[in-house]
Amino acid sequence: MSDPQPDTSRMRQLPDPIRWDKGNVVIIDQTLLPHKEKFISSKNYREVCEWIKSLRIRGAPAIGIAAAYAATLAAFELKSKDKIDSRLDQALSEIQKTRPTAVNLKNILVRLKKISLSGNIAEIFLNESNKILNEEIEACKKIGQFGLELVPEKATILTHCHTGGLATGGYGTALGIIRAAHEAGKDILVLADETRPLLQGARLTAYELQKLGIKFKLIVDGASGIAMKRFRVDLVAVGADRIAANGDTANKIGTYNLSVLCKENKVPFYIAAPSSSFDLTAKSGHDIPIEERSADEVTSFQSCRSAPEGVSVYAPAFDVTPRENISAFVTEKGIIRNPFEENIGKAMVSP
Ligand code: MRU
Repeated sequence: MSDPQPDTSRMRQLPDPIRWDKGNVVIIDQTLLPHKEKFISSKNYREVCEWIKSLRIRGAPAIGIAAAYAATLAAFELKSKDKIDSRLDQALSEIQKTRPTAVNLKNILVRLKKISLSGNIAEIFLNESNKILNEEIEACKKIGQFGLELVPEKATILTHCHTGGLATGGYGTALGIIRAAHEAGKDILVLADETRPLLQGARLTAYELQKLGIKFKLIVDGASGIAMKRFRVDLVAVGADRIAANGDTANKIGTYNLSVLCKENKVPFYIAAPSSSFDLTAKSGHDIPIEERSADEVTSFQSCRSAPEGVSVYAPAFDVTPRENISAFVTEKGIIRNPFEENIGKAMVSP
């Protein structure tokens, strides 16, 4: 069977990260980028779970969307009728366990469980998943527009990991702000951290910025301090995997270090994220589970061993930035400023 082809019906410069196509979930395999734009498809929810675990699809909003489509596949596969029976419920918990830190997975599965089920459950899940995908894209576009006021006409913006269209369903969160500023005619230079160990910055942020024609320099993570001074960084914008009720935020490992650098250098530090990345059941960062990845991701690079055999490794995929280091949150509901606890609570209950 030939590989599925990209959807060219919507004019975009970037490939769609995920879509539903005639009973299949189709994604672009992010582990192969930037060298190969390969689309893979499946009708099997367990295979989608494997894609999420292995980062073939990644980025908090994108894995939330993938979880919704995986639940849809499970409902089709298990021929669920008009209620969530024990087998479907078991499939939903398998999907939720694929990655523990990004709360989008959990939020979206909770949303699916809450919808009223009168009729064919798989069709109902499919409609809701398509709706979730479109909502996430729209949320990112609004984040981009709200973020514009934080970006000077000529600005150098440092970012970490990858928060673009591929990580979100389309457009991007922190990268959405950068994209909106560029589209608004602002003169933007991006400093993109390579993001060890899996190089989401070097592979994916660089890929998207290049396609979008936005000026950037790729830097190693350890260069962010000198680059902040050398290029007079105006702001740092990053995404989020889970934002607690008090504003503490989990994001890709190295984000906390950057926030400390910002504090030291008096550079504003912004988190850009949709509502699906907030977890009001987590009171603070202490309640956020931090995923630890395999030691191989640190001791090897693309299957080539770089550390001696037998070394002991600590490989957290995320860290928590305390709210004191955050200047503001940019969401689809607007910019949330201090006092965070109060303002996050208000923003998340508003429609
Ligand atoms: O391990 P990853 O690549 O899924 O981590 C992704 C990040 O940490 C992103 O910064 C975050 O999900 C925000 S994506 C808009």
